Amino acid sequence: RPTYRIAPSILSADFAQLGAEVRHVIDAGADWIHFDVMDNHYVPNLTFGPMICKALRPHARLADGTPVPIDVHLMIAPVDALAAEFADAGADLISFHPDASGHVHRSIQAIKAKGCQAGLVFNPAAPLDVLDWVIDDIDLILIMSVNPGFGGQAFIDSALRKIEAARRRIDASGRDIRLEVDGGIKAGNIRLAADAGADTFVAGSAIFGAADYHAAIAQMRAALG
Ligand code: DX5
Ligand code: ZN
Repeated sequence: RPTYRIAPSILSADFAQLGAEVRHVIDAGADWIHFDVMDNHYVPNLTFGPMICKALRPHARLADGTPVPIDVHLMIAPVDALAAEFADAGADLISFHPDASGHVHRSIQAIKAKGCQAGLVFNPAAPLDVLDWVIDDIDLILIMSVNPGFGGQAFIDSALRKIEAARRRIDASGRDIRLEVDGGIKAGNIRLAADAGADTFVAGSAIFGAADYHAAIAQMRAALG
């Protein structure tokens, strides 16, 4: 049985008080902080960059001071220059979409050379084929269950088959690779994603849209069993 991780996306937090929102959601039981970077080019929306990540880094810690991982999801093209800036800004994991980089292997190596874990992200209609060549180089696979760009969209059911396919590839690799799902996750469908093989769950609107973040996360953990 995997160690499940819940990664609240601060895309749906109150941007006027991001530090407090990060502390609040960690108090409520978040395992990771998911940080959605959008550039109005790769996706039709614009969010925040490395300066905001750096400002939030001191807020992303447990009461005893233990840092909580910042999980940076880059929805940007090109990838490499900003990925390096996010590493310097305190990111722990940096994931990018392979179709946004001209040199996927190089981008992965550059992220790891900065001391971060590296992940690849797959859009709902994107093939997993690139994993044939780089699965031994990555730490995380992120399956999009919505089209990237906005929070609050409905889960796309075909993502479950893609999670299963990614799980088979991870198991065949024999490597310790996190399998994360992002988009439309809530207490009512998180178990389906886990049964398909996901072990890490991004949720934005289902947590930050709730009156009680602790209850929202607890409901997800209860559904995971
Ligand atoms: C979408 C982002 C997601 C988004 C998830 O482009 O990558 O992380 O914030 O939000 P919900 O959970 O509301 O679908
Ligand atoms: Zn995301």
